[in-house]
Amino acid sequence: MKKLSKNKKLKVVSLFSGCGGLDLGFINQGFEVIWSNDFFPDAVETYKYNIGHHINGKDITKVKSSEIPDSFDVLLGGFPCQGFSIANIKRSMEDERNFLYREMLRIVKDKRPAFFLAENVKGLLSMHQGEIIKMIVKDFEELGYKVDYKLLNSADYGVPQQRERVAILGNRLGVPNIFPKPTHGPKLKPYVTVQKATGHLADAWISYNPQKIKGKTVHNHIARTNVQDTFWGRKNEVNQHDVCDYLKMWRNKKGISTKKVDEHFGYKHTAGHWFRKDNNSGSIPNPDDWWKLKKLLGFDNKFDKKVTELELKEIKFEQSLRINNWDRPSDTITATGPEIHPNKKRRMSVRECAIIQTFPEDFVFSGSLGNMYKQIGNAVPVLMAEQIAKSIKKSTLDYYETIPKTNRGNRK
Ligand SMILES: C[S@@+](CC[C@H](N)C(=O)[O-])C[C@H]1O[C@@H](n2cnc3c(N)ncnc32)[C@H](O)[C@@H]1O
Repeated sequence: MKKLSKNKKLKVVSLFSGCGGLDLGFINQGFEVIWSNDFFPDAVETYKYNIGHHINGKDITKVKSSEIPDSFDVLLGGFPCQGFSIANIKRSMEDERNFLYREMLRIVKDKRPAFFLAENVKGLLSMHQGEIIKMIVKDFEELGYKVDYKLLNSADYGVPQQRERVAILGNRLGVPNIFPKPTHGPKLKPYVTVQKATGHLADAWISYNPQKIKGKTVHNHIARTNVQDTFWGRKNEVNQHDVCDYLKMWRNKKGISTKKVDEHFGYKHTAGHWFRKDNNSGSIPNPDDWWKLKKLLGFDNKFDKKVTELELKEIKFEQSLRINNWDRPSDTITATGPEIHPNKKRRMSVRECAIIQTFPEDFVFSGSLGNMYKQIGNAVPVLMAEQIAKSIKKSTLDYYETIPKTNRGNRK
């Protein structure tokens, strides 16, 4: 059993580390990341340039526990959750290799760090009616860890972005898992707005080269400029409720459940919306899906033309496209497409997205434009990571206060 280091930097091993948002937060709070891993080459490149060469670029499922250092205090990992598919759950909760959290479980089991932190999307809590999160907690508890989880919103910690993420914390010291208290919000410090965070870049030219703006060197102020004012829309008016009733009737006739339709399309919940009109949350299938659905349900031609005939339409820019908030925290920065900048000439730049994710301005991203956006959208906001790191530090202090000297580091 390894001892918990005191008066030394707490050592961290980080899995699924991406370009290093989570790791940087811990480093800023005095932790030392000694080994990290991610198989996304551009993220590895970014990580090496800004954080250090202790990152490995391997597929974690191919990394033996013996290749990972033994002595560390905290294991970090925002494991991807694509593996939790309906098909996998049905087959077996035990032996699915693509449950990447099992890699984390394996490493916790083999290395027994004092703490672990698993970060994940909000959807994890509702996945399979809450069964997945229950399974995760139970699996770690069986290894002797005290496990708690909480939904955190980065805006509550001074990040200029609404981003809800689940933090799953575990420790084998028997101390309470502490989650950071919000610092921003009603009755606290005001939320940080997009304007405050990125306003200085609003009118700066976008450029692949670093540029001096207001005395500071700014990297990666580049952006997609595909800000279209036309789109392919349905040529004819069509009523979603009518289409919904029609599709439901044919689905019942065929005796196929919504779940089965989802499975057929490989969607998680999307297909369900075609058969729903409550709260106006329904939708009409796009033409490709319509033809595929027709093959599955065998319906007649009643709505074919109305649903599938498209034409190029003008859009009212402000009404139709998502434009980043300006006087509020941003909506969640995603790994796919950045929103349009409020100046409406371009999308949010890589640098602006990075600022919204609270990366420092001298943190430089590598790779294609799309891959830079992806690294940033995948990351844990650095400031939120710092707050969680602080909480873990606090837990270690509690541990030293409550555990008699002779037993320290030896609790199972
Ligand atoms: C949500 S991102 C983590 C972001 C990171 N925590 C941060 O704050 O920047 C998940 C990462 O897992 C990596 N990943 C997915 N499957 C992997 C595997 N089998 N082996 C190694 N890395 C993997 C992806 O490349 C991605 O960068």
